[in-house]
Amino acid sequence: MNRIILLGLVAILLIGKTVFANEGMWLPILLEKYTMEQMRQQGFKLTAEDLYSINQACLKDAVVGLVHLENPHHHFCTGEIVSTQGLLLTNHHCGYGAIQNHSTLENDYLTYGFWAMEKSEELPNEGLGVSFLKRMEDVTPQVLSQITGNTDEQTRDSLIDVHIAGIELAASENGTYLAKVKPFFAGNEYYLSVYKIYRDVRLVGAPPSAIGKFGGDTDNWMWPRHTGDFSMFRIYADKNNEPAGYSEENVPFTPAKVFDIAIDGVQKGDFTMVMGYPGTTTEYLPSMAVTMQKETINPGRIKIRTQSLNTLKTAMEKDPLVRIQYASKAAGIANSWKKWIGENKGLTRLDAVAKKQELEEGFMEWVNQSESRKKEYGLLLTEYAELYKFLAPYSLTHNYFFETIFESDVIDLAGKCTLLKQINKGTAPEKTGELKNNLMESVNVFFKDYHLKTDQKLFEDYISFFYYDIDKNFHPEILRLIDTDFKGDVNAFTQWIYSQSMIPYPDKLGPFISDYTPAKQKKLEKDPLVVLFSQSLQVYRTLINPIVTETQSKISKLHRLYMKGLREYQSNKIFYPDANSTFRVSFGQVDDYKPMDAVTYRYYTTLTGIMEKDNPGIYDYKVPEHLKRLYCNKDFGRYANPDGSMPVCFTASNHTTGGNSGSPVLNSRGQLIGINFDRNWEGTMSDLMYDPDMCRNIALDVRYILFIIDKYAGAGYLLDEMNLIKSKPSRELPVQIAQ
Ligand code: ARG
Ligand code: GLU
Repeated sequence: MNRIILLGLVAILLIGKTVFANEGMWLPILLEKYTMEQMRQQGFKLTAEDLYSINQACLKDAVVGLVHLENPHHHFCTGEIVSTQGLLLTNHHCGYGAIQNHSTLENDYLTYGFWAMEKSEELPNEGLGVSFLKRMEDVTPQVLSQITGNTDEQTRDSLIDVHIAGIELAASENGTYLAKVKPFFAGNEYYLSVYKIYRDVRLVGAPPSAIGKFGGDTDNWMWPRHTGDFSMFRIYADKNNEPAGYSEENVPFTPAKVFDIAIDGVQKGDFTMVMGYPGTTTEYLPSMAVTMQKETINPGRIKIRTQSLNTLKTAMEKDPLVRIQYASKAAGIANSWKKWIGENKGLTRLDAVAKKQELEEGFMEWVNQSESRKKEYGLLLTEYAELYKFLAPYSLTHNYFFETIFESDVIDLAGKCTLLKQINKGTAPEKTGELKNNLMESVNVFFKDYHLKTDQKLFEDYISFFYYDIDKNFHPEILRLIDTDFKGDVNAFTQWIYSQSMIPYPDKLGPFISDYTPAKQKKLEKDPLVVLFSQSLQVYRTLINPIVTETQSKISKLHRLYMKGLREYQSNKIFYPDANSTFRVSFGQVDDYKPMDAVTYRYYTTLTGIMEKDNPGIYDYKVPEHLKRLYCNKDFGRYANPDGSMPVCFTASNHTTGGNSGSPVLNSRGQLIGINFDRNWEGTMSDLMYDPDMCRNIALDVRYILFIIDKYAGAGYLLDEMNLIKSKPSRELPVQIAQ
C-alpha cells in the first residue's frame, strides 16, 4: 500500500516536473537561480553565463528586438545576428513593411523577392531600428523605496514614477542607452532593461511572397505549415561601431556575438530554446477576467471581424486591384481574429474558467486558515467579481469603438481632417502650408488603397454592429437619425452619409483641403463623417475611457495583491512573470502533438507538402516554378534530411507569444536551428493558460532558409559570411526526465 502511494507520488512529481518544464518565459538574469537545473536535465549543454552575462560576450548579444525608431520601447519582432558583418535574420512578416516600402510595380519585391548581390545594393529603411540588450537589473528595492503597506495608491504611483525616472535617467548615461524600468508580477517587482539602439538597418534579401508568405492567412496559426517566413537585414554602424543614422560612410556592424548555424537537423525530443521579446501574456488572471475575455470580449470582436473578412473576401475575389489595396488590411484583421477563435476553443477545451475557480477555492481555503491572511486577502475575490461585473459592458463598448467606428478608414480620415481646425486667422502662412501639405500627403496615401464600394460596405457593417449591440446611451448622437429619419435602416443611413460627406471623394476632399480657410470651418464641422468622428470621440472620451481606466487601475491593485498571494500560497512553485516585451528565454523540446482523437501531427514538414498544396487557383497556394524544378531535381544540396527530403518547418514546446516572431530557435549548444514565426491554433490560449500537451511554437527550419538563399535565390555568397556547423560531436539524446 505504502509503496503504491509512494509510486503515485513519484509519478505525480514527475508529471508535475515535465508539465512545469516547458511552460514559462524566463528572465535571463534569473536562469541560474530558477531554471538551469531543468534545462540541463532536458539536455542543455551551456551555462547561464553563456546565455546572459555582463562580463563577457554571450548569446543574448546576438539577439535583437526590432523597433520603429519613433517608439523604440516596443519590440514588434525579434531577430538574430548570423554573421560577423552584422547580418540579421528575422521573419518575412516582420520585414514586410520594409519590403513593401521598397516595392513598386516595376520592382515588386513583395511578389518576386529581393536579393542584394553586393553590399552597395542593400536598401536603407528609414525608421527601422534594432535594440541590443546590454543588461537587466532587479531595481525593485529602489522603485518601491519609501512605499509601505499604508501608502495610498496615488502616492504610491507618483513615488514609483519619480523613482523610475531617476533610475532610467542614470542608466541612460546621457542618452547613450535607452533605459526602461517595467513592472513585473503585476507590480510586485521592477526590472531595468538597458538597450543600445542601432538606427541603420538595411534590407539584404527576402524571398517572394509565394515562399515567405506561402499558405497566407489560410494556413496562418496552423500546423502542418509550409511558410518560408524569413527575411534578411544588415546592421550598419559608424566607424567606431557605434549607432548612427543612415549614412554612406557607415560600415557593417561588428557584433559581440554571432549565432553558429547547425545544419544537422532536428529530431523529436531535442532540446530547444527560444530567446527574444514576447509581447503580452496574462497567465495569472482570476476566473472572472477569463470569463469576460472568453464570453464577452472575444465573441464580440470575432463576430465583427468575421463579417469584415467576408466583405473583404468577396470584394477581393471580384477585383484584382481591390486584392492589392486591401490585402494587408485583411491580413491584419484575420491574424487576431483567427487567434481569438483558437484561444476561445482552447480555453473551452481546457475548461480554463473551472480550473481557475478551483485554484481560487484552494487559495481562499488557505487564506481562511489565518487571521492575517484573511485581513490581507479576504475580500480579494469578491472585489474582483464586483469590478469585472461592472467593467464588462464598458470594456465591450470600448472594444466596439475600436473594432467598428474607429476602425473605419473614412472615419479615421475624417478625424485627420479635423486637424484643419488648427488653422485660424492668426496662423502663419508657412504653418498653414505645412499642415495642408502633410494632410494632403496622408490623403494621397489613403486613396491609393481605397475602394469606395468596399469601404462603404465595411462602414455599414461597423455601424450595424455598434447600433444593434451597444447600449443607446453610448451612441454618438448622429446614430439617432437611423431611427428618426431612416426607420431603423442602417443601409439607408449609410447611403445618406456617403452622399452627403466629402471625405470619401478625393476630387472633393483634395480641393477642400488646398483651398481651406478658417471661413470653411463650419462646412468641415457639418460634414456627417466629421460629425460622426467628433461625437464618437466625445462619447468615448467622456463616458467610456475614464471609467475603463479607473476600473482597470482598481483591478491592477487587486492583481498586485493576488499575484503576491498566489506566490505565497504556492510557495513551492517557481513563477515566471507575464510577457511584457522584455527579453525572455523559453525552453522545451522538438515535439509533435495530438490535435484531436486519432490524429498525431508529425513535428516537421517538408517540401513535399508544398507540392501537395500547390494550386494555381488558390492565391495562397501558388508554388513558384523554380521551386518546383528544384523539387523535381531533388536539388537540395547539403540542406536535406538524411532520408533525402527537404525540411521546411518544425514544432517545439517553447512557450512563446506575439513578439517572439523572428526569435532564434536554438539547440542545446546555443546554435541556430530555426526561426520562430507562429504558434499552433490549438495552443493559442497559452497567452492565458498553457497546456503542455497542446501548445507548440512553429519554427522555420534554418536549413530551408539556407536552401532558399543558396539554391533558389542564387545568393549563396551570403552563406560565406555564416558559420555553418554540420554534425554535433555525437547526437546525444536528451536526458529523459522520467528515468
Ligand atoms: N500568426 C503570426 C503572428 O501572429 C503570423 C502573422 C503574419 N502572417 C499572416 N498570414 N497574416 O504574427
Ligand atoms: N506571429 C507572431 C509574431 O509576430 C508569433 C506568433 C505568436 O503569437 O506566438 O510575433
